[in-house]
Amino acid sequence: MEDLSLHILDCTENSIRAGATIITIIIEEQRADNMLTITIEDNGHGMDKETLNKVKDPFFSTKPDKKTGLGISLLAQATHESEGMFDIRSAPNRGTKITATFRYDHIDRKSLGNMADTIIALIASGSGRVDIRYVHTFNGRSFIFDTKTIKKELQDIPINDPAVLADLKKQLENAVQEIRET
Ligand SMILES: Nc1ncnc2c1ncn2[C@@H]1O[C@H](COP(=O)(O)OP(=O)(O)O)[C@@H](O)[C@H]1O
Ligand SMILES: [Mg+2]
Repeated sequence: MEDLSLHILDCTENSIRAGATIITIIIEEQRADNMLTITIEDNGHGMDKETLNKVKDPFFSTKPDKKTGLGISLLAQATHESEGMFDIRSAPNRGTKITATFRYDHIDRKSLGNMADTIIALIASGSGRVDIRYVHTFNGRSFIFDTKTIKKELQDIPINDPAVLADLKKQLENAVQEIRET
């Protein structure tokens, strides 16, 4: 996978498949600490111990159709390649939490990529029903993007309306750019 935003998309697709109604994505880029941390938490059906133990193995999957099973293992691998850490916690009917850390300046650390595209793809694939809370910090400056708040503002207009998604994409791109400006 090219960049971390695509890994994030892959993990959140798992959350949607697990029936999550709320997905929280937290990205912390702290150059002073030489750390990049990604946290993805969902309230889906979770995993039992046995499944959780297997989930980091390549090719483990519970998909009935295509058996790929590379999503989690590739993200775990990407953290190890940049001297980071990977952690996944899950409990049946409680949900799942993934924490992935990376050494910021490591030569093999993948770039974050386009988070706006990932968030928009995620809203679209959840048919607008799954709520996304996305918090991004860069060197102490943050923004919060929360579809619950946006839906209230939109009133009767569906959040997955193509014109709305195009507008949200621009807002997200601007927000990421703003926190990165020094
Ligand atoms: N957030 C999640 N909630 C519940 N189960 C999950 C979650 N993430 C992964 N899993 C389980 O781990 C398996 C492997 O996930 P993954 O590595 O992304 O491969 P794939 O999505 O191709 O099956 C999934 O099939 C699913 O059973
Ligand atoms: Mg997957």
